[in-house]
Amino acid sequence: MQWRNNTQRYGALSIALHWGMLLLLAAVYACMELKGIFPRGSDAREAMKTWHFMLGLSVLALVLLRLALFISSPVPRIVPEPPRLQTWVAMLMKIALYAFMLLTPLAGWLVLSAKGSAIPFFGLQLPALMAENADAADWIKEIHETVATAGYFLIGAHALAALYHHYLVRDNTLQRILPQR
Ligand code: HEM
Ligand code: HEM
Repeated sequence: MQWRNNTQRYGALSIALHWGMLLLLAAVYACMELKGIFPRGSDAREAMKTWHFMLGLSVLALVLLRLALFISSPVPRIVPEPPRLQTWVAMLMKIALYAFMLLTPLAGWLVLSAKGSAIPFFGLQLPALMAENADAADWIKEIHETVATAGYFLIGAHALAALYHHYLVRDNTLQRILPQR
């Protein structure tokens, strides 16, 4: 299987990044959604938050690599070719997904910076992106949580579109991004 995309299929690197990112995002969301089962101030709750920050920052690192790959590689053709309007909507959806993967972790990093909290990353401490400011921390946190919630709907709509192409239109949209057997 080739590493880079060609006009027929996504390459191994794009495929690994695509499905790896799905698992990573599931873990990032799970850490925040499940932290509530542990009592406030407990070590387990703090650990869930720390993992949320570190895995979220990994999303930011990987999406930069993925974006570079997306910009520099061809998009494999869909056969049979969908109507032009659908192709435009699909492109807008990809832009929205990339914006989500960039903005959500960046806003999270800004929240911790504005709160004056530590920014842990697998044994390292990352620098603050802005000076401490409690008001800014509140409204950036609102943005972070709103974009994160929108992410559920974006990803859901994207996955439903893939199933629609596969089972109803019966084109190769999904096939070209699945690992080859
Ligand atoms: C794509 C990556 C990320 C996603 C999808 C995401 C998602 C979320 C979600 C769903 C919440 C809870 C929202 C709620 O309770 O309504 C949250 C809270 C939060 N996230 Fe993220 N996040 C990401 C990355 C980050 C990063 C990289 C950081 C910091 C380095 C961060 C810092 C925070 C903070 C400080 C909170 C508030 C925690 C609290 O209220 O105790 N997030 N995030
Ligand atoms: C069950 C979950 C998912 C399914 C079934 C799925 C399916 C697909 C399919 C079929 C494509 C090819 C579409 C095309 O080329 O027109 C694609 C591409 C893409 N998907 Fe997903 N996807 C899923 C989850 C995600 C998640 C979680 C994200 C990120 C938040 C994402 C972001 C993208 C992006 C940006 C592309 C464009 C190709 C690239 O740059 O890698 N997908 N996905």
